[in-house]
Amino acid sequence: MELHKIIAIRHSRRAFSDRPVEPEKIERMIEAARWSPSCANRQPWRFFVVDKSAPERLALEDALDAGNGWAKKAPVLIVSGARKADGSVVESREYYLHDTGLATMSLMYRGVDQGLLVHPMAGWKEAPLKAALSLPEDFHPIAVVAVGYPGRHEELDEATRRKDEKPGVRREAGEIAFLGRFGEPFRGTLPSTPRKVYETDIPLRFGDIDAMGHVNNAVTLTLFELGRVKFFADVLGAREVEDITFVLAEANVRYRIPILLKDKVRLRMHVTDVSRSSFRFRCELFDPRDGRVFTEAETVQVMYDYKAGKSRPVDAEFLARAKDYIGG
Ligand SMILES: Cc1cc2nc3c(=O)[nH]c(=O)nc-3n(C[C@H](O)[C@H](O)[C@H](O)COP(=O)(O)O)c2cc1C
Repeated sequence: MELHKIIAIRHSRRAFSDRPVEPEKIERMIEAARWSPSCANRQPWRFFVVDKSAPERLALEDALDAGNGWAKKAPVLIVSGARKADGSVVESREYYLHDTGLATMSLMYRGVDQGLLVHPMAGWKEAPLKAALSLPEDFHPIAVVAVGYPGRHEELDEATRRKDEKPGVRREAGEIAFLGRFGEPFRGTLPSTPRKVYETDIPLRFGDIDAMGHVNNAVTLTLFELGRVKFFADVLGAREVEDITFVLAEANVRYRIPILLKDKVRLRMHVTDVSRSSFRFRCELFDPRDGRVFTEAETVQVMYDYKAGKSRPVDAEFLARAKDYIGG
């Protein structure tokens, strides 16, 4: 899954299912943590994986605060922590907690990436937790992360359900990020949705239909191509094939429901993530009569100089013409 999607779907929800977590998924989470950055590459983080069959499990559950009782259902509890002596110190700055936090975030994102629910907790008592895991005196446990598959929200007790229903809130970007000096708010310019979304009707032909009666998945990819070419013609003024100045580098397609010959199909698309020499399109094929989305795609285009035979930077003209269609 792409990182921006993982970031968008991660939430600290509390309803876990009984479904056990495959050990390889936990292993991939640990692997993600292992590759985190750390000051002077000291890698101070330590993780303790405690599943339902672990002898330490009951004692660890007993260390949780009553308000975190929901976490006992999670098939795996991962405790993160570090020793001050294992981290780097620069002047007065002790990086062991910081670096363990970075590694824990990687671990959690990799969990979300694999369809898991991850929920970090500070609500537990330190002495019984340290005793449960036989932690040395100088070891600082930092978080207990509940890990499992998402369960049914309705099965939570009422107080926990209410906590889970609270909407996610965040401070404005200008409150948490400054432009240069302290107090000067950072001002974002990137709209989360673009000013305009490009739409174009996609005519279906009998020959697009396969033996299953659907538009074949391979054909669907060419419908997105049709959209890219139309976007370049309508928005960027491309008249000749030479005016189409990009090559397709990557396509990620999610087929949600089949497209049948009787469907009306429209494509909507906008640009995201413009970088030095590439940009992305986020696109959807949908039926304008009832809004059903057939297929979603993200494609990466690289600007290409055919004469020189190599990629070239996204130019100012592209940015000016596509401006209204660029969003988060
Ligand atoms: C270090 C840390 C400790 C937390 N402790 C608890 C906890 O004890 N119980 C709980 O229900 N949620 C806990 N949370 C989850 C936060 O409440 C949650 O991250 C926050 O409300 C933002 O919501 P979100 O994670 O869904 O975006 C903790 C999160 C962090 C990072």
